Amino acid sequence: MFLKTKFLFLIVVLATTTVVTTAVNPGSTLSASSNQTWSSSSGTFSLGFISVQPPTTPPSFVAAISYTGGSPVVWSAANGAAVDSGGSLRFLSSGSLRLVNGSGATVWDSGTAGATSATLEDSGNLVISNASSATLWSSFDHPTDTLVPSQNFSVGMNLTSESYSFSLSPNGNLTLKWDNNIVYWTQGLNSSVNVSLKSPVLALSTIGIMQLSDVNLNGSVIVAYSSDYDRNADVFRVLKLDNDGNLRIYSTSQGSVTLTARWAAVADQCKVYAYCGNYGMCSYNDSSPVCGCPSENFEMVDPNDDRRGCRRKLSLDSCQGSAAMLTLDHVLILSYPPEAASQSFFIGLSACRTNCLSGSSACFGSVSLSDGSGQCVIKSEDFVSAYHDPSLPSTSYIKVCPPVALNPPSSLGETTREGRSGVTAWVVVVVVLGTLLVLIALEGGLWMWCCRNNKRLGALSAQYALLEYASGAPVQFSYKELQQATKGFKEKLGAGGFGAVYRGTLVSKTVVAVKQLEGIEQGEKQFRMEVATISSTHHLNLVRLIGFCSEGRHRLLVYEFMKNGSLDNFLFQTEQHSGKLLNWEYRYNIALGTARGITYLHEECRDCIVHCDIKPENILLDENYVSKVSDFGLAKLINPKDHRHRTLTSVRGTRGYLAPEWLANLPITSKSDIYSYGMVLLEIVSGRRNFDVSAETNRKKFSIWAYEEFEKGNISGILDKRLADQEVDMEQVRRAIQASFWCIQEHPSQRPTMSRVLQMLEGVTELAKPPAPKSIMEGAVSGTSTNLSSNASAFSTIGVSPPGPSSSSSLQTSGVSTFPSGRNNEKANSSLLQSDT
Ligand SMILES: *[C@@H]1O[C@H](CO)[C@@H](O)[C@H](O)[C@H]1NC(C)=O
Ligand SMILES: *[C@@H]1O[C@H](CO)[C@@H](O)[C@H](O)[C@H]1NC(C)=O
Ligand SMILES: *[C@@H]1O[C@H](CO)[C@@H](O)[C@H](O)[C@H]1NC(C)=O
Ligand SMILES: *[C@@H]1O[C@H](CO)[C@@H](O)[C@H](O)[C@H]1NC(C)=O
Ligand SMILES: *[C@@H]1O[C@H](CO)[C@@H](O)[C@H](O)[C@H]1NC(C)=O
Ligand SMILES: *[C@@H]1O[C@H](CO)[C@@H](O)[C@H](O)[C@H]1NC(C)=O
Ligand SMILES: *[C@@H]1O[C@H](CO)[C@@H](O)[C@H](O)[C@H]1NC(C)=O
Ligand SMILES: *[C@@H]1O[C@H](CO)[C@@H](O)[C@H](O)[C@H]1NC(C)=O
Ligand SMILES: *[C@@H]1O[C@H](CO)[C@@H](O)[C@H](O)[C@H]1NC(C)=O
Ligand SMILES: *[C@@H]1O[C@H](CO)[C@@H](O)[C@H](O)[C@H]1NC(C)=O
Repeated sequence: MFLKTKFLFLIVVLATTTVVTTAVNPGSTLSASSNQTWSSSSGTFSLGFISVQPPTTPPSFVAAISYTGGSPVVWSAANGAAVDSGGSLRFLSSGSLRLVNGSGATVWDSGTAGATSATLEDSGNLVISNASSATLWSSFDHPTDTLVPSQNFSVGMNLTSESYSFSLSPNGNLTLKWDNNIVYWTQGLNSSVNVSLKSPVLALSTIGIMQLSDVNLNGSVIVAYSSDYDRNADVFRVLKLDNDGNLRIYSTSQGSVTLTARWAAVADQCKVYAYCGNYGMCSYNDSSPVCGCPSENFEMVDPNDDRRGCRRKLSLDSCQGSAAMLTLDHVLILSYPPEAASQSFFIGLSACRTNCLSGSSACFGSVSLSDGSGQCVIKSEDFVSAYHDPSLPSTSYIKVCPPVALNPPSSLGETTREGRSGVTAWVVVVVVLGTLLVLIALEGGLWMWCCRNNKRLGALSAQYALLEYASGAPVQFSYKELQQATKGFKEKLGAGGFGAVYRGTLVSKTVVAVKQLEGIEQGEKQFRMEVATISSTHHLNLVRLIGFCSEGRHRLLVYEFMKNGSLDNFLFQTEQHSGKLLNWEYRYNIALGTARGITYLHEECRDCIVHCDIKPENILLDENYVSKVSDFGLAKLINPKDHRHRTLTSVRGTRGYLAPEWLANLPITSKSDIYSYGMVLLEIVSGRRNFDVSAETNRKKFSIWAYEEFEKGNISGILDKRLADQEVDMEQVRRAIQASFWCIQEHPSQRPTMSRVLQMLEGVTELAKPPAPKSIMEGAVSGTSTNLSSNASAFSTIGVSPPGPSSSSSLQTSGVSTFPSGRNNEKANSSLLQSDT
């Protein structure tokens, strides 16, 4: 059990000159600066001033009733309002008990004119009564945030703590509310108890049972047991609404001042509404809840108090251009009635996002529950209470001013990194995979069910409905449909390595990119299998496959459309594209995003995929300039016997990006992708093709020249000149350049894995100076002559472990098996070597 310790902790100033009284007579005064108290007859409870902790300047005090030794505080005047050291609590001769501050202003008054005595009873109840002993006021009837045993809590009473309150409704429901409005916890009577209650009363017994009693109940109903219930008669217990919004039973041993939580109403603290404040995001480090911000688009309201919430760095009103949606995986924005009732409907993941983005300006976020319910909740009130956990099956979107900051807040990132031991990481992987499988099965089932039931509605509408609903299952299109969608393949977007790409618009108005595959001579069944693999590979940084067509000799793939096209348009100056320029922040995020996408392909998805054709042309940018890797998984589609295509793609797509092993007839592994990525990374930094040769580079290939400059320490010489007058984080540039040179090492084993590259970029791994990338230095391939073990040890010095045999072999079997091997390659290789020089 946890309890935030940083909040107002009230500790009694130990009484040195205690005045023990059983009844207080009118005219008595307790002053805040003295150590006087009014005690119960046995001294169990005392009323006096306690100083506010942590101490304030000038010191301030609260008039409160507390248990022996000062803890716990069970009641406070004016709900804990503090007075200065000149303040006092006066039992006036008029009969009122009054709290006044130093200037004599009334802070609180019991309103008991005509009272003649005030008594603190041994139960902890402060009773003010008149001459005929009628109770005019009692502290038990006006609880603050705590109930003690034998105190009755009835309908109309509230426990309050900051914005939270606890109450009992006439039907016996117990509820916790935020801001008197949002009910985030409720517990009612067992529905088998069919009685209407008269005046229910909740009480905590001395032995640790919380029960509800009513005349119509024949006794009482147990609500909760304290975990140490009945263990020790010497234990004192209270029920307390903490300022973190949770209701807990605490116990303390006689003579001790420490409280131990024994029961909590809300087991998962992150589910307490607004626990992390406005725009705050709750997550766990081990067992403690921690608050952070959703992304770098936000900052803490109070850096010293993470519970105060976050605010936008840029308000939506002052956005340059239109707003964008920040995507938060495994994040739930807490929704409780009444606010969610009319804002919840059934649409798919991407529609849930766009609905908020393009819909009313009042929408600031949406949540898509991927728990099989297909539900999307639109958040239109300006309050976010988010919960991040790797096991949460939901994706949330928050409207922000672009650019969308991809990095999670550092506290969160570090938490997950540190908090995940090997075991928990595995648990998460298993849980996520399990959820995925269940979802796929569910979607598959739904698809079949829909197709069977909606035949009369036409297969089309069923498919589009599913397209919206089940984001995972690929939709099968007929060739005719795609012909119509692309207006007869009119608007060509480009020619990728595997065929031309056309712009199209589906009946559902979704804009798509249709790729007409060439040279695919695989059987229908195998093609469908590959399509299934590709479409089941989901990641923020991978282009999503929407559907496919396999009809006769036609093989087409339908992808989500990427508004900003491919990265090469932004990096390299050509006649056609010269106006577009990405600043460093965008470039760095694109490098990170691309690395994350490839990491997912290599290390995180079930059937690991070696991309084989990473280059700027295959890195697409969406409307927020989030990078998405395209064409993954296509290498396997090429007919293994048809080396013509390997040659074609290689020459067209990868001149300059091909790892040496392609030319040296060595096995192609994920490390070949690392090489290509390294070249792309260098290009992202420099805005120059890695194989460019010019006078400026002394007639050397740019990548060779860049390494020489790097050795001279001339980092800024490598950086794109167009960024010269912009704000650039040179440390990030240095990391990117160093990482790129590690990636383009000649021998595969010397290159880091993709997840290591990510760490290098993020600065998690300390970087050693990369050795000169030999192959490019010599401009030729030296084959297998490098000593493996010496390379491995050289690598371990920068904290990058050499690739284990298991990982590389598994990659080979899954990603490379369909590649031409041995003899088939030779033709391709020789032609490549020629075209490369
Ligand atoms: C009250 O008690 C504290 C600590 O026990 C002591 O330092 C302080 O002098 C006392 N004040 C008075 C007015 O007795
Ligand atoms: C006393 O309370 C009055 C009214 O609440 C307030 O205006 C005044 O500043 C307070 N004085 C001190 C010394 O706290
Ligand atoms: C005491 O209060 C009760 C209830 O308000 C009233 O009936 C009674 O007359 C009061 N007694 C005296 C002596 O004022
Ligand atoms: C609490 O309620 C019970 C009956 O439900 C009653 O017997 C008891 O006196 C009440 N206690 C107080 C302090 O009012
Ligand atoms: C308890 O809270 C409700 C609002 O939720 C309020 O109407 C009521 O007056 C409060 N009762 C007390 C005794 O403060
Ligand atoms: C609380 O009371 C309402 C009726 O007012 C009922 O519909 C609801 O189910 C109750 N909540 C619980 C948890 O029993
Ligand atoms: C409700 O009461 C029935 C019968 O006493 C019991 O079987 C059931 O578990 C109870 N349900 C809850 C939620 O306590
Ligand atoms: C509850 O009791 C009422 C009358 O006492 C009866 O009409 C109703 O059917 C009962 N409901 C259940 C669920 O037993
Ligand atoms: C309470 O007891 C009476 C008689 O003992 C019985 O008729 C009634 O059904 C009981 N009510 C409940 C809610 O158990
Ligand atoms: C978790 O967070 C709490 C509060 O921020 C901190 O005190 C504690 O040391 C953290 N625990 C770990 C294991 O990081």
